[in-house]
Amino acid sequence: MLFLSVNVLSLQAGAPPAHRASRHAVVRAAAADYLKEIEQGPPDAILGIAANFRASTAENKVNVAVGAYRTNEGVPWVLPSVREAEQRILAAGKNKEYAPIEGLGDFVGHAMEFAYGKDCAALKEGRIAAVQTLSGTGACRIAGEFYSRFLPRGTATEVYLPDPTWGNHVPIMGNAGLQVKRYRYLNRKTNGLDIDGLLADVEAAPDGSVFLLHACAHNPTGVDPSDAQWGAISKAILAKGHHVLMDCAYQGFASGDAEADASAIRRFLDDGHSLLLAQSFAKNFGLYGERVGTLSVACADAAEKERVMSQLKLIIRPMYSSPPIHGALIVSEVLGDAALSKQYYGECASMAARINEMRTLLRERLEAAGSEHDWRHITDQIGMFAFTGMDAAMCDRLTDEHNIFLTRDGRISVAGVNSGNVDYIAAAVHDVTKGKSIGA
Ligand code: LMR
Repeated sequence: MLFLSVNVLSLQAGAPPAHRASRHAVVRAAAADYLKEIEQGPPDAILGIAANFRASTAENKVNVAVGAYRTNEGVPWVLPSVREAEQRILAAGKNKEYAPIEGLGDFVGHAMEFAYGKDCAALKEGRIAAVQTLSGTGACRIAGEFYSRFLPRGTATEVYLPDPTWGNHVPIMGNAGLQVKRYRYLNRKTNGLDIDGLLADVEAAPDGSVFLLHACAHNPTGVDPSDAQWGAISKAILAKGHHVLMDCAYQGFASGDAEADASAIRRFLDDGHSLLLAQSFAKNFGLYGERVGTLSVACADAAEKERVMSQLKLIIRPMYSSPPIHGALIVSEVLGDAALSKQYYGECASMAARINEMRTLLRERLEAAGSEHDWRHITDQIGMFAFTGMDAAMCDRLTDEHNIFLTRDGRISVAGVNSGNVDYIAAAVHDVTKGKSIGA
């Protein structure tokens, strides 16, 4: 016991207020002195800003920091299909037993069909190893660990992340022990894909490196490769014997059609890549807090799949034992019922459509406010974010002077924009960008 109470009386029920207050005064054992040496860590680049938003008392505060869907009224939305599934689960009186280490089999089966397609040959051949994970973050972490353990160069392996990428990718891969590198992704002058830079970096990387690709709705840029560019990327990666980790956090948010958004995943599987897929149901099912996702590994045959599964379980068991079941039951119930699944696809499309309307409105209102910048990229980009080209100083002014909370890389979560705040956001963005250049 490290903490010694100085006043036992103070712990007794009914002690006078003065004594009760003193029960918090403790003498600490010297063994705990190492804690004094611990430095204050920096806040998270995304969730730290969300915490600042919550702490702000400004009446006009706006949260466009976190990639989480909001309705036009600015509130979170529980999809009606998800509510219906929850009611069915409750009515069925399901128990609260542990899931197996690899998660709920039904859920994983539906999740795989959602990503790879119902007619996927590799699924039918039983050669996709797949486990339930703690959403996409957990899937990426397990993937990093798997690469560290089993790639021939182990922790010496370079993992190439797009520049820019979701901020958390960097520590996830670093914590898994891999060497984190970057490949060119965004051309900041055109706000489009730097395909030449990307292909040159694929070519220059040591053979057998890992390339992390965003399957669709790239976070934070909203810039995805075209079909032809995906083809060129696939070819270049195959030629170098690189491994691919696809991170799919926004299936359904790019085009509004979850099937169409899976096309890069399906192409890379068909092209025969060394492929891992991290899948999240946070955004497209609105199951943020349920932490529900999968990690899958494309294997050569069913026997290889069994061996891979055994190792994935050995990674998971000492890390968190087994995943939570509620979110997985919901996804399973929705995708396992033809009518509910159809309803779900419509609801997902409606979220993407509202975000697209807000892109158009934001650009229109910026232009109407008198901004002379070219804001076409806001409507060209897809998915949840607008990567505006604003620098950190502009973002700081938006927060300090206008109470608009966003990440300091200039990313706006368009899901946080609505018809009630779009004029305010546009006027504020115009205020901090007028007379200054944006982008590169
Ligand atoms: C985001 O990029 O805002 C989301 O993916 C939330 C998160 O965990 O960072």
